[in-house]
Amino acid sequence: MEFLAFDQIYNMDCIEGMNKLPDASVDLVITDPPFAIDFKAQRSNYNRTGSRVMEGYNEIRVSEYAEFTMRWMKGVHRVLKDSGSFFIFSGWNNLKDILIAIDDLGFTTVNHIVWKYQFGVVCKRKFVTSHYHCLFVCKDDKKRKFLNSSRFGKDARADNGGSRRYQDLEDVWNIPREYWHGDKKTPTKLPAALIDKIIAYTSEEGDVVMDPFLGSGQVAVVSKMHKRRYIGFEVVREYFDFAQERLEKGFYRIAADDEEAGNLPLFGKAK
Ligand SMILES: C[S@@+](CC[C@H](N)C(=O)[O-])C[C@H]1O[C@@H](n2cnc3c(N)ncnc32)[C@H](O)[C@@H]1O
Repeated sequence: MEFLAFDQIYNMDCIEGMNKLPDASVDLVITDPPFAIDFKAQRSNYNRTGSRVMEGYNEIRVSEYAEFTMRWMKGVHRVLKDSGSFFIFSGWNNLKDILIAIDDLGFTTVNHIVWKYQFGVVCKRKFVTSHYHCLFVCKDDKKRKFLNSSRFGKDARADNGGSRRYQDLEDVWNIPREYWHGDKKTPTKLPAALIDKIIAYTSEEGDVVMDPFLGSGQVAVVSKMHKRRYIGFEVVREYFDFAQERLEKGFYRIAADDEEAGNLPLFGKAK
């Protein structure tokens, strides 16, 4: 069989795509699977300039979520190296299906991280959801990489005088969402700071990072910025094209009006 090449992304179903990768060929998987909450990614759902938000998000039915989760995570289990790490983002609604798949497929849970973001939707009769779960799992807890000084040395100090490294290694991550005013965007995306952090602690230059559910391509784009190899899949053509454009042109953000001057390059801070 001819395998898919790395440093490419593919407009295809991730389960089919992973079938075309060799066993134990991926070092790190970072992904934010579909939510199964009847999420409708229409331009009007967003309190933003509608024409800049792309439509077409491929949602999974709640009744099919457990089976779907098991199928794609089985693909990850096969392609992940024994030394690899796997990070799965999930809201609380379908967390149980992900936790069951982790156990049934024989992954080992390393951490249960909480990503706290700056705001959720205001509710009158309940608390406001302002966090996401991130399950950090692996195949072999003794072989996985963890580069615990990759961001802060032991002497780095936090504003309160405590250890900056300790603070960064806590399992509650306070990271704001990114708002891309005036640029092309998809309805959901992980902030680059979140992906930076995972990549720094659990991979090295040249490692292969995979995202089965690319959306805007954030994981592939940030992996490229950190000199990692990447691979990923996205079924929705419009999102795939957007991710591909970002990778090919080397732009982190692309101005909606196609004025070159508004683009933000992958390497550099112009804008
Ligand atoms: C929550 S979004 C991912 C957002 C992404 N992390 C980002 O930062 O932009 C999930 C994505 O998975 C895509 N998707 C759903 N089912 C898929 C499948 N079977 N294979 C590949 N992509 C799929 C959806 O269209 C959607 O873009």
